[in-house]
Amino acid sequence: MVSIMNSNNRTPAVDVDDIPVNPSANPWLSEVVANRRTLLKGSLGLALGGFLGGSLSACAVGDRKASSSFPLKTISPNIGFSSVAIQTAQDFDRVVVADGYSARAFFSWGDEVVAGAAAWKADASNSWQEQQLQAGQNHDGMAYFPFADAPNDHGLLVINHEYTNPTLHPTGPTETRDAQGIIHRPEHEVLKEQAAHGVSVIEIKRDQLGQWQRVKGSALNRRLTANTPMALSGPVAGSDHVKTAQDPTGTRVLGTLNNCSMGKTPWGTYLICEENWNNYFVNRNTADWQQRVSHKRYGISNSANSSKYYWETVDPRFDATPTDKQYFKGFVNEPNRFGWVVEFDPFDPDSLPKKRTALGRYARECATVVVGDAGEVAIYSGDDTRGEYIYKFVAQQRFDKANPKTKLDLLDEGILYVAQFHADGSGEWLPLLWGEHGLTPRNGFMSQADVLINARAAADILGATPMDRPEWVAVDPHSRELYVTLTNNIERGIKLDQSVDSANSRKENQHGQILRWSEKDSNPAATEFQWEIFLLAGNHPGATIPENLQGNIHGDAFSCPDGLWFDADGRLWIETDFDDEVDVYQAMGCNQLLCANPVTREVKRFLVGPRGCEITGLTGTPDGKSLWLNIQHPGISYPASDGKTRPRSTTVLVTKNDGGVIGT
Ligand code: FEO
Ligand code: CA
Ligand code: CA
Repeated sequence: MVSIMNSNNRTPAVDVDDIPVNPSANPWLSEVVANRRTLLKGSLGLALGGFLGGSLSACAVGDRKASSSFPLKTISPNIGFSSVAIQTAQDFDRVVVADGYSARAFFSWGDEVVAGAAAWKADASNSWQEQQLQAGQNHDGMAYFPFADAPNDHGLLVINHEYTNPTLHPTGPTETRDAQGIIHRPEHEVLKEQAAHGVSVIEIKRDQLGQWQRVKGSALNRRLTANTPMALSGPVAGSDHVKTAQDPTGTRVLGTLNNCSMGKTPWGTYLICEENWNNYFVNRNTADWQQRVSHKRYGISNSANSSKYYWETVDPRFDATPTDKQYFKGFVNEPNRFGWVVEFDPFDPDSLPKKRTALGRYARECATVVVGDAGEVAIYSGDDTRGEYIYKFVAQQRFDKANPKTKLDLLDEGILYVAQFHADGSGEWLPLLWGEHGLTPRNGFMSQADVLINARAAADILGATPMDRPEWVAVDPHSRELYVTLTNNIERGIKLDQSVDSANSRKENQHGQILRWSEKDSNPAATEFQWEIFLLAGNHPGATIPENLQGNIHGDAFSCPDGLWFDADGRLWIETDFDDEVDVYQAMGCNQLLCANPVTREVKRFLVGPRGCEITGLTGTPDGKSLWLNIQHPGISYPASDGKTRPRSTTVLVTKNDGGVIGT
């Protein structure tokens, strides 16, 4: 959850993470319906009978649950710890982990990243220039990259910084409203916020006592921010859709925004995901905004200011209002340069990050990489907004395990697909290919670049299944089965375009669910799959609880699954993100990390974080003995936990006291 916090940093004033962008208000939707009817009636419809036919029943209310023929793996991982209790105290302000384990704060907002960084100042008086060398805020997705000669003792930790809190500034953000009602910000605050976004790369190593330390001054330590030069690559690069007054070539972008979850490739790169980038832009021209699908369908603001931060009053590239006074209408195309997967090599501190446009543009939560037996590469992502879709990209070329470094531009060519879940437990991947299945000039698509930039609108036309806010995707290392968290959707069954269906089976879904699927023949390039609901999160069934709040968890109850990760032994780790001040979540206490057995479906609570935080970001060493997770936006004073120090998002290191594998 991304919240704009009040100045006390406790109460979310506005939750802007999951604001739906209702496509039923979009002129494209009528075209969608008309187009699908035409498709089904015409000769093309005959050819596509199997392709689209199932979708006609996919969204019916009251569909039965998926079939029980789902292929399951049968070897259970060893999950040996005892459950941690929920923490309901209003002043709970630390991390509690299962008996026999230790958790310590490892890397917090303001800590040194780049050599020469100033020390973090508890009054938040570090300048924006100092912030550029320090850890950003709101640690999110994260991955460990081992050094080959000591993989369990020496590596790089790469950490996303999703957004900023009012705590970034000594007394919160300064906002001044002018006579036109536009809110203005001081430049130094905007620059500090931009510097606290992005990614940190830190070298880490075990010392002589076996304790993990950050390697200060390492030449590999690096910060990427909202102003770091990056390249656009793939089908959209250089197209008219991405040219701006600052970049007439449409190939160079400054920075990355709202970096939520991530991916890690077998060829050694990190995939940064750009989630709620729409909140950073404004287009004040209503007539233009109404017809500009690449703005409206993504929820870019059409009011006096952007939805968050109001950077546009200081930095013109965030003002996407078209103007005839500048080339390429100023920065109307700047939003088209965000919403991508950004790939970079963490071991090369000078490498230019590349925005891989072949993977499509939406509010991308994650980019989970799966490689098939013959080197097929698929990347799975959720579009985390109510009623949005699940996508996968299949690279045209294959990955060669024998020569892992030879295909570094593998992600520039391939096919983007979107998922359609059928009520009978089958599913299809529908290709987003220009010129096919209605993705044609008649529907406003003039090129593959159009399709990729407007991936949501293209997926609407194909009849993709609107989901309950897809967050992370995880792959079982043994069976290659895929799991996705659908965190919640209070508009399910309320909004006309989000009727209850078999995959999104609860009206006013407050607690979320985890789905799993298996690609045909376990081939990541397959276009058919079998799926089922792995679990419905929420309270254990009880007479006094409304049905839509009852889950079916076998074991410890939780709500709003978000982060999701398999360790090498096949334990499924689940991280939660609910608002712990809202009544419906009170029984869950504070946010937590749980561990599920994919075979028995038993769930055990492993760790609970401080009040106000979400738990996110999860990675570990290859031997499974060191685990890092992120405490994002703690509410009181963590990690100082003294009740008065400004709270800091923090990477936490978990180890087992006997030196064993985490989870055993
Ligand atoms: Fe950044 Fe959907 O969480
Ligand atoms: Ca979330
Ligand atoms: Ca998330």
